[in-house]
Amino acid sequence: MTSYTTSKIFVVGGTGAQGLPVIRALVADKKYAVRVLSRDAASRRAKALLALGNVEIIEGTFADETTLRAGLRGCDGAYINIDGFNTGEKTEMYWAIRSYEIAIEAGIKFFVYGNLDYALKKAGYDSKFRAGHYDGKGRIGEWILFQNEANKERMGAAVFTTGPYMEMAIAAMTPMTPSIEDGVVTWRVPLGKGAVPHVALEDCGYYARWLFDHPERANGMNLEVAIEQVGYHDLAAAFERVTGHPAQYIDTELEAYWSGPLKMAANLPAGYNADLNDKSTMTFRDNFSGFWNIWKQEVVRRDYALLDEIHPHRIKSVEQWLRREDQLGRELGKGSLWERLQPENMSRQPPLLKLAEDQRRGRL
Ligand SMILES: NC(=O)c1ccc[n+]([C@@H]2O[C@H](COP(=O)([O-])OP(=O)(O)OC[C@H]3O[C@@H](n4cnc5c(N)ncnc54)[C@H](OP(=O)(O)O)[C@@H]3O)[C@@H](O)[C@H]2O)c1
Repeated sequence: MTSYTTSKIFVVGGTGAQGLPVIRALVADKKYAVRVLSRDAASRRAKALLALGNVEIIEGTFADETTLRAGLRGCDGAYINIDGFNTGEKTEMYWAIRSYEIAIEAGIKFFVYGNLDYALKKAGYDSKFRAGHYDGKGRIGEWILFQNEANKERMGAAVFTTGPYMEMAIAAMTPMTPSIEDGVVTWRVPLGKGAVPHVALEDCGYYARWLFDHPERANGMNLEVAIEQVGYHDLAAAFERVTGHPAQYIDTELEAYWSGPLKMAANLPAGYNADLNDKSTMTFRDNFSGFWNIWKQEVVRRDYALLDEIHPHRIKSVEQWLRREDQLGRELGKGSLWERLQPENMSRQPPLLKLAEDQRRGRL
């Protein structure tokens, strides 16, 4: 019988919003050591990871086979989250495929792919629902599970499908950043009566760890996670209950949404190193219009009973998430949630996404 037991995990995307809680969960009790790939070993986030212990950093890019081989050498597990907002959809797919292939070659025992829903397929191939950063991952997630049918004795593989981080709804520089309008926290997004299956980053750490801890069951699995389907009227109501301050959701037509704070970004490529002269490259506007259409029509659903079984103490509602976030923020000296959303405080907090911290600059 093949052993899928791992002790040293090669992580791509470890300094990112998703990678940080995943690595914290892996090294918390020192059961696992991780080797993190980063283009900048001297960054604030890379240093914070090193301080956890059981973490080493290897400098380089995933868009280089030599680096991927060096990163995988001596590891027996891999957690691969290829950043499509750097590469764009087409290049992301290539390096995700190569990561899987090279991992097998390198003798990795268990491979976890950081995935997003293949939303275009789930929506019946209607291009109104095309978001390159979803389909670029989702196609490869399916491809990995297909390859795994033949390869599963040699290398186990699981697909870990997340979704928009709940944290994005209270962070600066995201598609759902709120504003304060006449003293009311306001989300103006093109969601209609739909709902977003937001995920809690902290729970992503738990789930990723679970996949490595239970490789026999996880082998061949597509673990699709979320807190719940979050309608934004519910988000605003929960915010009011938790903070005692007014909040609202204003359904916004796509046209108006793209005339708002994201106007400057609308015609940029969704992946900052993708080439707009390449006809396959989606602009921000095209990409995130498809993204909102996915949630508006609730194309994506989750099996919440399965998630309750795997993670009985998972965060199960947006209100629970907001309460916890409010409490954590106070404990960390960041102030209450209400205080954190005030413009002067928003601009002072380090961005949630590394991409925003680096101002969408960085090499492929
Ligand atoms: N935002 C969301 O709600 C969300 C939800 C689920 C999934 N995702 C997906 O997650 C991916 C981004 O990860 P994130 O959300 O954690 O964003 P993030 O905070 O911006 O982090 C990006 C990560 O990718 C790494 N990276 C970028 N280019 C690299 C390269 N060429 N070589 C090696 N590492 C590279 C960065 O490492 P260094 O800068 O240290 O090199 C960093 O760790 C995207 O594909 C996105 O679609 C996003």
